[in-house]
Amino acid sequence: MTQREKSQALDDENKHRKIKSFVLRQGRLTKAQQHALDNYWQEYGVDYAEETIDFARLFGNDNEVIIEIGFGNGESLLEQAKAQPEYNFLGIEVHGPGVGHLIHHAQAEGIHNIRVMRHDAVEVLNHQIADNSVRQLQLFFPDPWHKKRHHKRRIIKPEFIQLIRQKLKPGGSFHMATDWQDYAEQMLEQMDKADGFSNSAGKGKYSPTKGFRCETKFERRGLRLGHGVWDLIYTKD
Ligand SMILES: C[S@@+](CC[C@H](N)C(=O)[O-])C[C@H]1O[C@@H](n2cnc3c(N)ncnc32)[C@H](O)[C@@H]1O
Repeated sequence: MTQREKSQALDDENKHRKIKSFVLRQGRLTKAQQHALDNYWQEYGVDYAEETIDFARLFGNDNEVIIEIGFGNGESLLEQAKAQPEYNFLGIEVHGPGVGHLIHHAQAEGIHNIRVMRHDAVEVLNHQIADNSVRQLQLFFPDPWHKKRHHKRRIIKPEFIQLIRQKLKPGGSFHMATDWQDYAEQMLEQMDKADGFSNSAGKGKYSPTKGFRCETKFERRGLRLGHGVWDLIYTKD
């Protein structure tokens, strides 16, 4: 698809459907990723269905749950799951090769506190996650949609922020990171004025630490290009 055709397709889609935060890239699966999807989906995968997920049943224990939206290839999520075995991790990503990559490595390394969904996270949150049930939601380096006319696709917007609040437990946290300064500013402005959240760094400030976040693939790419990195961590009141 040429750039012009892609823009036209996006504009057509905008006219007819709810605006999504992603465009599905086809992306070829490697043999290992395909093998992981074919053989280990039963163990790690969760199929989308319009019913609430019972976390205790899914993970086989009562540990608290951390959800990551748009984990890319899942490298940092896997590292975090290894570092924090006392939590359960649910990763949600639409890109097939990334899902295959994470399952392949989780299985190879014998990591069992991870489950994976291959679906639009907004739909999953709306239809499958119980209110007040999640310890932490994380959104690392969401697609920046840097052209002004595509800003409406940015996942951070007031209705999404309130969806996050609805799903977090009281005292739970929402951790975002981005390497696009104007997106960081938008996150800060919208989160600071959102009802029901407190900025852990203080109003108007970015987080001085990146918490338990490990460096992600997209972050490394940004750093190579000379971008900065901004973390924002909010607590649900
Ligand atoms: C820029 S990449 C960053 C990936 C990863 N977090 C990293 O830092 O390397 C953003 C990812 O979010 C995924 N994504 C965007 N919107 C999504 C949605 N609504 N549900 C699930 N995944 C989504 C995209 O497929 C893409 O892999």
